[in-house]
Amino acid sequence: MKPPNTGTERHRTRARGPATALAAIAAATAVALNLAIPAQAASTLKAAAEARGRYFGTALTRGDLGISAEVNLAAAQFDMVTPGNEMKWDATEPSKGSFNFGSGDQIVSFAQSHGMRVRGHNLVWHAQLPAWVGGVPLNQVQGVMENHITTEATHYRGKVYAWDVVNEPYNEDGTLRQDVFYKAMGSGYIAAALRAAHAADPNAKLYINDYNIEGINAKSNGLYSLAQSLLAQGVPLHGIGLESHFIVGQVPSSLQANMERFAALGLDVAITELDDRIQMPADSSELQQQGTDYGRVVNACLAVPRCVGVSQWGVDDGHTWIPGTFPGYGAPMMWDSSYQPKPAYQAALSALNSGTSSPSQSPSQSPSQSPLSSPSSSPSSPVPGACSATIKTINSWGGGFQSEVTVRAGSSAVNGWTVKWAWPGGQSISSLWNGVSSGSGSSVTVRNESYNGSVAAGASTTFGFTANGAAATPTATCTSP
Ligand code: XIL
Repeated sequence: MKPPNTGTERHRTRARGPATALAAIAAATAVALNLAIPAQAASTLKAAAEARGRYFGTALTRGDLGISAEVNLAAAQFDMVTPGNEMKWDATEPSKGSFNFGSGDQIVSFAQSHGMRVRGHNLVWHAQLPAWVGGVPLNQVQGVMENHITTEATHYRGKVYAWDVVNEPYNEDGTLRQDVFYKAMGSGYIAAALRAAHAADPNAKLYINDYNIEGINAKSNGLYSLAQSLLAQGVPLHGIGLESHFIVGQVPSSLQANMERFAALGLDVAITELDDRIQMPADSSELQQQGTDYGRVVNACLAVPRCVGVSQWGVDDGHTWIPGTFPGYGAPMMWDSSYQPKPAYQAALSALNSGTSSPSQSPSQSPSQSPLSSPSSSPSSPVPGACSATIKTINSWGGGFQSEVTVRAGSSAVNGWTVKWAWPGGQSISSLWNGVSSGSGSSVTVRNESYNGSVAAGASTTFGFTANGAAATPTATCTSP
């Protein structure tokens, strides 16, 4: 049986630009020393996000590309682009077997020429689905769906960071929508879609994306059960997209806990379509509340190590889908219709630039917490200048398991660490986060990422992985240069 994350990559690196490496190290050091992030705050969302090991994205349509003030702002502030409509089925396969990727390609070229990555959106969705698909005999729908996915994901292979493979599959009560795909294949259409996408683009992170799943509720519970079952079957599901089309003042209080439970399955999570609509006209207290909301969303993502980034669904209040879809509502973005930053922008930026959490830091980081037992660690008398590492299995299934490794500094701070162990019975890592792995055969070597090498005396950081084979907790050694 395959592991839950069947991506072919052997190690995982987070979004990060070279220009931000120093800022990241400074931030990580500040975190390790339990200080506030120092004065050199980043001045754009993307720089600030990259310093925290995240991306900050936006949706852009082909129409947006012709509006220079909007695209200049997008290029300055964001490092990830989601095409607003251009990769949807009605745009890419308007009639059976006849594909058109022209508009999607324009978004990709724009992103590439500005050093931005792309979230592919989307491959299978009940909406913006051309009418001809509804007329396909049910026994041919799977073939049509797989052909659509294969053709599109192959066209964009290597050009997208992630795909929303299945978009909005759930009803509000946590049951699956009875769309044409469900009618033809039952719930199995989701596994079939993920498998087809993985075969076409093995390096893309594959997501299920939906709205009203941001908090813990019937809808997100349905998705959570499905995610567990897909992972147990070895289906290549890598992430959950929380659209986050909020109404001002209504960010769910369980947002972070909900992201944490999906992350604990070994999945990435992302805020994929953030906007925060206000009944018009918006007054200044609502704009302040909107800032509070944006700050809360960003902070929730920063608090969850596997939250890889936040994307806003648009750039400015003058170009957003909200008034057209929710009459009477508007002003959902971080910039107003004159491209001026709103309180929401300041709140998002300052959340990224402040705080003491970091993607690499264990939430339980505490010198007084005793390490898990391991022959390689010596909790009562730490070795000066050295570190210890302890492997703990946190989940296992037939043929695979997920582990967390705690790296703890001795009586002196460490600046860079290397953890090594040997697998006893043919195990192999399938996906690793918050560390960089090398080694071959049964020997594993994991080094720190640029952002989590500094660990204060007695403090700890963690990295995690999923692996193939029988769950094992070998003795690990830790060295620091
Ligand atoms: C919206 C687009 O922004 C609009 O231009 C279009 O008319 C309708 O779709 N959830 C999604 C997005 O996953 O694809 C939707 O985008 C917004 C809701």
